[in-house]
Amino acid sequence: MPGDANPQVSAAGEAPAARSGPRHVAIIMDGNGRWAQARGRPRLFGHHAGARRVREVVECCPGLGVEYLTIFAFSTENWKRTQTEVAGLMSLFRRYISKEMNALAEKNVRVRFIGDRVRLDAKLIGLMDKLERKTEGNTGTQLTIALNYGGRDEVARATKRLARDVAEGRLDPDKVDEETLPRYLDTHVLPDPDLVIRTSGEARISNFLLWQSAYAEYEFIDTLWPDFTGEELERLCNSYGRRDRRFGAVKT
Ligand code: FPP
Repeated sequence: MPGDANPQVSAAGEAPAARSGPRHVAIIMDGNGRWAQARGRPRLFGHHAGARRVREVVECCPGLGVEYLTIFAFSTENWKRTQTEVAGLMSLFRRYISKEMNALAEKNVRVRFIGDRVRLDAKLIGLMDKLERKTEGNTGTQLTIALNYGGRDEVARATKRLARDVAEGRLDPDKVDEETLPRYLDTHVLPDPDLVIRTSGEARISNFLLWQSAYAEYEFIDTLWPDFTGEELERLCNSYGRRDRRFGAVKT
């Protein structure tokens, strides 16, 4: 069955009411490996430094009016890294969740995970479930962590569920329009991102929120993720506020 409707008005409809800053910021946290290598340290050292940055960025959101923060922690392509790096990252995610669980709950942060859980180990899945349950009543920053996430994979999984609903008579194919698929995506309860940031100087989106970012503004910045600060996020949010988003329309 499809999920709840996406709370953001679609690109085909009215543009959201004017507000200066982004409501939903999504971040591709890139550059941990280069940050570590520049210090002569193993790549995992950079990932640990990157994990520490997450807390600062989450804490800045309420002051910047950012209600939704979505971060790309591990992609469906990241399994191609060495076994040592993958195992180190999985262990980092377990540690991060255990260590941050109480602080996130107390700071009124609601955490959700998106991505396919099938390849993740049972202990990590258990911690993810626990963190989601523990924070589900929280009304502050809505933090979404993309873990084993790929935009194409998400669309494929959503399409499979949609096709099943058609085959089993729950969905009329003639009624499928551009509002239908988002209800099957992992992000079905989230508004689309307004601003997508990628750190580390690469100007590509690497399979992140492909459907959802159709009308997002992008910022590709040189800073490596472990050097990213709340001040930089503030600067990007302010610069977003000066952009003219028309959602395909012409200003009259
Ligand atoms: C990309 O840098 C980063 C990742 C693949 C992992 C992102 C993970 C974190 C920031 C750490 C923890 C996150 C959470 C939620 C606890 P890269 O390794 O591709 O860097 P490079 O391009 O310099 O090699």
